[in-house]
Amino acid sequence: MKCDFDKVHSRKNTYSTKWDCMKDIFGRDDLIPMWIADMDFPVAEPIRKAIKNRADYPFYGYSRIKNSLMDVIISRVLNKFQWKIEKEWIVFTPGVISGVNIAIRTVTSPGDGIIIQQPVYHLFFPSIINSNCKIVNNPLKLDNGKYEMDFKNLSQLTEENERYNSKAILLCSPHNPIGRVWKREELLELGKIAIENNLFVISDEIHSEIIYKGYKHHPFASLSKEFEDNSITCISPSKTFNLAGLNVSSMIIPNKKIREKFKHTMAGIVSQPNIFALESFEAGFKDGDPWLNYLLEYLEENLDFMINYFKDIKGIEPIRAEGTYLIWLDCRKLNLNQADLKDFMINDAKVGLEDGTIFGDDGEGFMRMNIALPRPLLEEALKRIKISVNLL
Ligand SMILES: Cc1ncc(COP(=O)(O)O)c(C=O)c1O
Repeated sequence: MKCDFDKVHSRKNTYSTKWDCMKDIFGRDDLIPMWIADMDFPVAEPIRKAIKNRADYPFYGYSRIKNSLMDVIISRVLNKFQWKIEKEWIVFTPGVISGVNIAIRTVTSPGDGIIIQQPVYHLFFPSIINSNCKIVNNPLKLDNGKYEMDFKNLSQLTEENERYNSKAILLCSPHNPIGRVWKREELLELGKIAIENNLFVISDEIHSEIIYKGYKHHPFASLSKEFEDNSITCISPSKTFNLAGLNVSSMIIPNKKIREKFKHTMAGIVSQPNIFALESFEAGFKDGDPWLNYLLEYLEENLDFMINYFKDIKGIEPIRAEGTYLIWLDCRKLNLNQADLKDFMINDAKVGLEDGTIFGDDGEGFMRMNIALPRPLLEEALKRIKISVNLL
């Protein structure tokens, strides 16, 4: 399938956070925006068609989930990840982060600890804090340009659990912002520590379908019945098919007791999903694969292009992502403090990147770059960075 992803579309004045909030976030709006995680590519034709068809039928009352959507989710999870899930396990939320918040409140009490592995997706922090829980950090280790989980430290944290009172691990799999697709053995090790220490696992797998060649995503819960019973898995079409503005995700909760508690926690706060979101969810999961295959090729070419380009830019080393379209840039050799690094990217290079420190203190000296944009724009952004670095 051929889509014209090289074409640059303006998304200004379209209720777009990425484009319309640039001035508020960066203080100017002439940047190439490469920050928040959505893509500057038009969505797949079957999704547009499904939304248009539904819009043409002018009854937009309260929604109800159709069996056809449940069937599509069940067969996609089975075909892509060899995980057999059941209809009753699926609970819809407006987003993964709302699901994560509800999950935390379901499995913890105020004052409990939640283990995360920084640098990690920044909205994990308020999800924990606003649930009156404590952040317990098990920092990832960076060895030879590759991030690994620190199992030794994780075991120590759990041994000292009287101090931390941790009740859950909030796993990011694949991991934003460092782009790891966790191997089966790594997840098995994490799951073993979780079971031994009565830690529930909330697994955010929103990026599970943006995986580069040679890597495979394993849903944490698919690895054993024990893990399945001890976890909530968050999935969504929003990253895969670029539907973040439609607000729909699903939580897979095999454990009946936890599922009932989760539903009770969200009752009266979370309403039924939006009908256009449901149409797009079903259309994407059912008919979106030709578009997705093309997207994955295009993203991987962007990734190669970017990695090659940075070979000529002294002081910035991108960490090659195994999945996600979010690239972690090691800028420590530019020898700028974080405020100057941010200022440099905004006011010299004129690119809108995410500040590495929003993902935790270990993000000092790093920036995160979203490469899901037309290649001509990516090239222009890289050119701007190169010229500005040469002037430093
Ligand atoms: C790891 C991760 N989880 C959750 C989200 C947000 O999901 P949602 O918009 O469905 O709340 C993002 C968005 O970038 C993400 O990277």
